[in-house]
Amino acid sequence: MEPNFEALRGEFPLLSRKTYLNSGSYCALADTVKAAFEAYMDDRLAVGADWDVWVTKNEAVRDLVARLLNASPDEIAVTASVSAGLNALASAIDFTGPRNKVVVSDFEFPTNAQIWHAQEPRGAKVVHVGRDADGYIPLEHFEQAIDEETKLVAITHVCFRNGAKLDIPGIVKIARAKGALVLLDGYQSIGSMSVDVKTLDVDFAVGGMLKYLLGTAGIGFLYVREAFVRSLVPTNSGWFAQENIVAMDITANRPSMSARRFEAGTPAVVNCYAAEAGLEIILRVGTDVIEQRVRALTRRCMERLEEIGWVSVTPDLDARRGATVAIPSRDSGALSAALMARDIVTSHRDANVRAAFHYYNNEDDVETLIAALQDLREAYFPN
Ligand SMILES: Cc1ncc(COP(=O)(O)O)c(C=O)c1O
Repeated sequence: MEPNFEALRGEFPLLSRKTYLNSGSYCALADTVKAAFEAYMDDRLAVGADWDVWVTKNEAVRDLVARLLNASPDEIAVTASVSAGLNALASAIDFTGPRNKVVVSDFEFPTNAQIWHAQEPRGAKVVHVGRDADGYIPLEHFEQAIDEETKLVAITHVCFRNGAKLDIPGIVKIARAKGALVLLDGYQSIGSMSVDVKTLDVDFAVGGMLKYLLGTAGIGFLYVREAFVRSLVPTNSGWFAQENIVAMDITANRPSMSARRFEAGTPAVVNCYAAEAGLEIILRVGTDVIEQRVRALTRRCMERLEEIGWVSVTPDLDARRGATVAIPSRDSGALSAALMARDIVTSHRDANVRAAFHYYNNEDDVETLIAALQDLREAYFPN
């Protein structure tokens, strides 16, 4: 049975005042996430340094992320950001042999290209896979780029610029045939759709809590396939990455036997509270339900845009689309600001305004956006 989406929407007080289409940047705040922040504050006032509880919060986040991705908790590192997880992973990869290529796509968020370029002094060679004339990146382009020298294919699931979703199973198949590893950047997908790392058969995955996972900034995660956890030894380390954190041994680096070896220092305790609450909502609502709802809303938005003659640059095919609908404009920043003045919260990248949907949006949100665009057409329609 379909959940009562209007009741679920009521858990986000902001939505009674704003048309919130910005979950691809930062989610709306849920009542229970706000309460989790407050619980941390109450705890500090009541107890002070409640380390025993705080450690369980970090472990709760690890367990929930593992459930969400269909991984084991030992395959999950809880990190300060996607960038922190990628840096730890990169530090463990050897680029000195003949397999030194890292293949990234034109759809990457900067951090998932910059960090691989940062490995160039260590021997990495970064290759970029470009788009076709229609703006999408077809499998053939990956086929041309991935070869026997490829160590890692590091790709985004959904492009932060235009909402395009890559064909991950297709790319994984190509990578496997050449013996390359695959890293999935799921920041723009995880929480807005079902992402099962075992079904997708990726070796590594990263994501964070401030967008579709309903948490906060300053906390993310890295999934490492069990088979690689012990053979990858990060040089990016710290006391929370050790096998025995309380040993306080300063004579050696003894990495944890689990993916905790990709962590570093003191966990972001308050962020763990918020992340736990956000993850619990996503698991309660269910990612299959969320995926269907988001797909229906983005489809509706694309159809309505077409009806008013203001066509999105996001792929039309359901299989090639995430939660964002990108709307071209002659001045995307000014259009986003004009929408904000009408309490419609979007963001902008390149020449597009991004309308990013979550399950808490509804068809009225689509209509509010469409009506505003019709009003603002003269000033902001693309040239
Ligand atoms: C796809 C994607 N990857 C990575 C990041 C950056 O993550 P972090 O700031 O946690 O390093 C973002 C942030 O917007 C993103 O959208």
